[in-house]
Amino acid sequence: MQIIIFDDAQQVASNAAEWVAELINKKTNPVLGLATGSTPISLYKQLVTKYQTGQLSFKNTSCFNLDEYLGIDEGNPQSYRHFMNDNLFNHVDIDKGNTFLPTCAQGQNPREQGLAYEEKIKYSGGIDLQILGIGANGHIGFNEPTSSLASRTRIKTLTQQTLSDNSRLFDKDEFQPTLAMTMGIGTILDARYVLLMATGKSKAKAVQDMVTGPLSSMCPASALQMHENAIILLDKAAASQLEDQNYYQWANVQNLKINQEFGLYHNY
Ligand code: GLP
Repeated sequence: MQIIIFDDAQQVASNAAEWVAELINKKTNPVLGLATGSTPISLYKQLVTKYQTGQLSFKNTSCFNLDEYLGIDEGNPQSYRHFMNDNLFNHVDIDKGNTFLPTCAQGQNPREQGLAYEEKIKYSGGIDLQILGIGANGHIGFNEPTSSLASRTRIKTLTQQTLSDNSRLFDKDEFQPTLAMTMGIGTILDARYVLLMATGKSKAKAVQDMVTGPLSSMCPASALQMHENAIILLDKAAASQLEDQNYYQWANVQNLKINQEFGLYHNY
């Protein structure tokens, strides 16, 4: 894991945007994995600005989102399709036909839908860079604690903690889905690079468990310890429970030196 600690959330978003821009500008047909939640919103804002200022084109990019709620359709403002259109896709030159979420409409077989999503990712050539947030309980996507570390795209039942963390986004009388389709942890681990963004004190414990805790299904994000290219972007508050912060800062100085001498090397 490469742990990079920034002063604030804005710097986390700027650095994440640099990673995305580097991939898109380097690869002919880049495949991005995308996340929802409040954390990546500022990343998407920066990507829109890069597009508007001519620094970035999404014309040849395909996107696969981590998860989607069950029981609401894509026209519903609470759907993750709506979130992605609103925060990114409607504002850049991406072909919406190349943007995918793991949906399962009423009457569709979730097992077949999950398999089809896995196939679609494979057929695209696989995800180059997967953006991730983290839940306060350590979930990635909607892989709640006790999810198999080898899981693939499927239905998950959301935990009480996740439901209550996300209830702030729903009106009092609004239907809040309790089920979702989500890429599995195995699906996420297949991405060539994973870039996890975490900001704010409420994420500090989950970040500590992810980075220094045991590899455990009780903290799904700890599976990233097994990933060859996991980059963890944190603000100071999210990093506050990590003991070895000086080491991470020092290691990054060394990485920068190597990059300066030999050039940036990302094996997409
Ligand atoms: C949601 C999403 C996750 C997201 C997490 C944190 O439930 N399914 O992909 O990373 O919760 O969200 P936030 O960034 O709003 O804290």
